[in-house]
Amino acid sequence: MKFEDIQSLDNQYIFHTYPRSKVAFTKGNGARLYDTTGQEYIDFGSGVGVCALGHSHKKIAKAIKKSAQNLLHTSNLYYIAPQAKLAKRLIRYYHKGSSNKEELRVFFANSGAEANECAIKLARKFGEHTNGSYRYKIITLDSSFHGRTIASLKATGQDKMHKHFGPYPDGFVRAKSISDIKNVIDSETCAVLLELIQGEGGISSMDKREVQELAKLLKQKDILLMVDEVQSGIYRSGEIFASKVYGINPDVITTAKGLGGGVPIGACISNKIDVFAPGDHGSTFGGNFLATSVGLKVLKVLERMRKDGELEYIISYFHHKLESLLHKYPKIFTNKVGIGLMCGLETKDLSIQTKVIQSCFLSRVLILKSGKNVVRFLPPLNITKLEVDEGFYRIEKALETFR
Ligand SMILES: Cc1ncc(COP(=O)(O)O)c(C=O)c1O
Repeated sequence: MKFEDIQSLDNQYIFHTYPRSKVAFTKGNGARLYDTTGQEYIDFGSGVGVCALGHSHKKIAKAIKKSAQNLLHTSNLYYIAPQAKLAKRLIRYYHKGSSNKEELRVFFANSGAEANECAIKLARKFGEHTNGSYRYKIITLDSSFHGRTIASLKATGQDKMHKHFGPYPDGFVRAKSISDIKNVIDSETCAVLLELIQGEGGISSMDKREVQELAKLLKQKDILLMVDEVQSGIYRSGEIFASKVYGINPDVITTAKGLGGGVPIGACISNKIDVFAPGDHGSTFGGNFLATSVGLKVLKVLERMRKDGELEYIISYFHHKLESLLHKYPKIFTNKVGIGLMCGLETKDLSIQTKVIQSCFLSRVLILKSGKNVVRFLPPLNITKLEVDEGFYRIEKALETFR
């Protein structure tokens, strides 16, 4: 199908909720994508952090095929072996190398927003139960992003997204920063929900010491610490969860994106193992055979890469390349941000951010925006050195047009 035909169909039949780039991809391989005319792109965005193992990964394809030929879905009314195994593997890898081996439980959903909805409901029920008091308030941070459902949107700390869709559910309270959280806690607070690295809000990383102090304070006050790892989770930070990099044990971790390598899945993991009872929460598709069989494969491949040092190697190589760009183009970039393969370069302003992304697109490298002035890189975690080199070579070509 020609691009123009796809575009015209899209114009006629799809809600225009996305500002799309003028391209349609027809196939992919590793960190490379091919468009309708056969042009090849280097994918430094992984479908916004989803394709953790790049495109057309053989093991993922095999897992999908096997599931399709065997069972895709039965519903959560029956036991699902790969769902139980995936939960076990998530917890096992999370516990690896840590002295904290507390009991955890997992609920599987289909997306990040849904994983956060699960966390919000868990926090509310937890707050209703403890010490005979009724606590329902959830504190979130300025510039955060937690999803597009009505509750996760209200939790999102970006007022510009709240226009048009109210009234919203009560009980979401905003803090300006980690250090401001203590000022907004009151007797009705049941949880704090935050990203350790704000993915949509400018790849801004929270301060480790402040986060650890907050974790201590919340424990003393019996308030849940809930970390949204929808973007930072599943080895994007170099560890299975960025919470490990920060040395904290949150009460709730939500994750999604990379876990399915492109197949929709979300997960909410918590140490509050007795809060939910049958009927409290559910999802028709959540945790089905297809999604969890693929999730098992993705985790296995990534844990092996972490163990073998491959992940660490490619992360440091990618950062070295970012560092070189930063030094070579001081009129464009002002700072390197992020951790692992959730990283970016701050640009001088919004207009430069837009121009860099557009020029890179014309040079056939896909990068993403974040916040007001950051160009964001979320490459596949198994990207090769050759693909990294090719991508940065094309970025430099694009930046030459700036001179
Ligand atoms: C930190 C974070 N939370 C939640 C979400 C929402 O996830 P989804 O779009 O899968 O609902 C995103 C998506 O970008 C995210 O980055």
